[in-house]
Amino acid sequence: MTCADNPAERADELRGLIEYHNARYFELDEPEVTDAEFDALVRELRHIEELHPELITPDSPTQKVGGAPSALFAPVQHRAAMMSLDNAFSFDELLAWGRRMEKFIDGEVDYACELKIDGVAISLLYEDGRYTRAATRGDGSTGEDVTPNIATIDVIPTTLTLDKPPAVLEVRGEVYMPLPAFEELNKRQAAAGLRLFANPRNSAAGSLRQKDASITAGRELAFWSYQLGALEGPTAPTFRTHSETLDFLREAGFPVNPEIKRLDTLQHVHDFCRHWEDHRHDLAYEIDGVVVKVDDLAQRQELGFTSKAPRWAIAYKFPPEERETKLQDIMVSIGRSGKATPFAKLDPVVVSGSTVQLATLHNQDQVKAKDVRPGDTVLVRKAGDVIPEVVGPVLSKRPPNLPEWTFPTECPVCHEPLTRAEGVSDTFCTNAECPAQVTGRIIHFASRGAMDIEGFGEQRAYLFTSKGLLHDVGDIYSLTAEDLQGIEGFGEISIRNLLDAIEASKSRSLVNLLVGLAVPHLGWTGSQLLARHFGHLDRILEATAEEMVAVEGIGPTIASSVSAYFQNEHTLKVVDKLRAAGVNFKGPDAPTEPQVLAGMSVVVTGTLESLSREAAEEAVKARGGKSPGSVSKKTTAVVAGEAPGAAKLTKARDLGVPVLNEEQFLHLLETGEVPDVRPDGESDGQ
Ligand code: IVH
Repeated sequence: MTCADNPAERADELRGLIEYHNARYFELDEPEVTDAEFDALVRELRHIEELHPELITPDSPTQKVGGAPSALFAPVQHRAAMMSLDNAFSFDELLAWGRRMEKFIDGEVDYACELKIDGVAISLLYEDGRYTRAATRGDGSTGEDVTPNIATIDVIPTTLTLDKPPAVLEVRGEVYMPLPAFEELNKRQAAAGLRLFANPRNSAAGSLRQKDASITAGRELAFWSYQLGALEGPTAPTFRTHSETLDFLREAGFPVNPEIKRLDTLQHVHDFCRHWEDHRHDLAYEIDGVVVKVDDLAQRQELGFTSKAPRWAIAYKFPPEERETKLQDIMVSIGRSGKATPFAKLDPVVVSGSTVQLATLHNQDQVKAKDVRPGDTVLVRKAGDVIPEVVGPVLSKRPPNLPEWTFPTECPVCHEPLTRAEGVSDTFCTNAECPAQVTGRIIHFASRGAMDIEGFGEQRAYLFTSKGLLHDVGDIYSLTAEDLQGIEGFGEISIRNLLDAIEASKSRSLVNLLVGLAVPHLGWTGSQLLARHFGHLDRILEATAEEMVAVEGIGPTIASSVSAYFQNEHTLKVVDKLRAAGVNFKGPDAPTEPQVLAGMSVVVTGTLESLSREAAEEAVKARGGKSPGSVSKKTTAVVAGEAPGAAKLTKARDLGVPVLNEEQFLHLLETGEVPDVRPDGESDGQ
């Protein structure tokens, strides 16, 4: 869906996605999308909200910073709020920001240009010169207490090296993992058979968020300080510029990055950014951009803040880096849906901090459009800094008479013909029994995002299917110790562990199960919506496509795909196997109330007598409805209690949305029938 189709729906969808990815990033340290992909979602939402300010909700992610603090660590209230930064993704955006600064400020503007360290933002608190607390950013006002973890970082002073330390000093900076430490850590993880960290940022975050600080101590973290928070007490110094505060931090014993420069023109700022874009890999730590800050503190005061970020600073984000290498060959892999994806086999090359040997080429048309040929020198980059992709050939380096590559006509695994339907860009192996597909489905089912069967990775899935032990995901639950005995690498303990992990997966949520079944077009969000609405796999099985479309957020493509999937005989056999094994089919949020408000949107304003506004909104949601904070064309009814919001009532009247009193609302909750009332709340006499 694009913003033009239905901005309100798209904004809602984006908010859901952003919240989900925020939680994965901040609370689980397991991001699923790249920073760039995440930023693109936020930018799209912000764009919609700019065009349609009426769609802004107070809890929109554009109105707050980062994720909520997790329950694992004690909450800490920051003395001064920890703000985030606005981003510039091109020099044009950066220069536009700079020009705005210079127009707003009377007189010259100097800029402090700093490397944007790719780590974890931390706030340190010193009282009377002694380290007393450290906290993560959290939602900007409340973070997580990581005092013992941060205390293990050598470069962070326990006592300030100042004669007269201030009563209170809050210091902001980035905890990061230097590249050599990151490489060492991943070597140790690999040797211990543990999961590798994707990048130094994730490993720094993971290392900090350890209940046992001795684990943090073994991780060789480091720190750069870059900003002053609260500063209080009679001996607190005063400063004129940010540069002076950095000198003070250095004097107090904090590491301050040596590459920081104070520059007096936007041209110099631009040159600084360009320089570091080219030299980012000369550093022993990762940076993902440059932070440009107005240096003069009085000017900063004049500029102030938006609700989320200071106006006086901006983060210039580097574009993805491109590297040259040799394309050895183009091969085709068969996914779990049978999709045939061409990919490049490359001479190993380091791109954005890790070695790349394989890169996707997406589909037949992309290979043709890029015209890359085995033997070419190609440019490789990481899309959104994570997924390697071939940008195109370096034609000046193409050997003469290099033949074009042609897409294979048969499946490289089962050798059945590959087919490509008219008007679609993907090619498929349509043999559902193709070992590549069967294995792909099993790998996906057992993976962390789905049924999370520990120890059931790619290798074992290949092993079991090739031995004829598994033909579909249902067979996983009939694996026995006898089946595994005698397979190389399976001793008594590993057999026990695997069978225990399979047993444990039976109680995963219905959402995980739906995700695991890999229904075409049904992703995590759709699975969650269906699980919530129907509350049981059997209800989903019985539901018609029409009933699914009635669920807010489920479109016709998903609905018809899910309905067709669950009518398929093969699927039903798999479902029977899962049921017989005792796999959980029940949704955790199975609705207890009749879903009489499904598809409706009810806005509550003012104080009600018999229930609080929150309880009223919950009551709407519990019955399958939505209860947003603002009135729009899509609002089914507005409920007005004592002292309702005048703007909401006016809008309801303008849009012809019925306004209900408390009694009418209670009737609506019970029956799902919208009383016939005029927008001003009076019955029209019937
Ligand atoms: S200043 C109010 N300076 O980037 C200003 N942030 O995208 C607060 N970061 O949350 C931040 N290097 O985690 C600042 N030299 C630097 C930075 C930096 C990295 C991080 C920090 C911040 C994020 C914003």
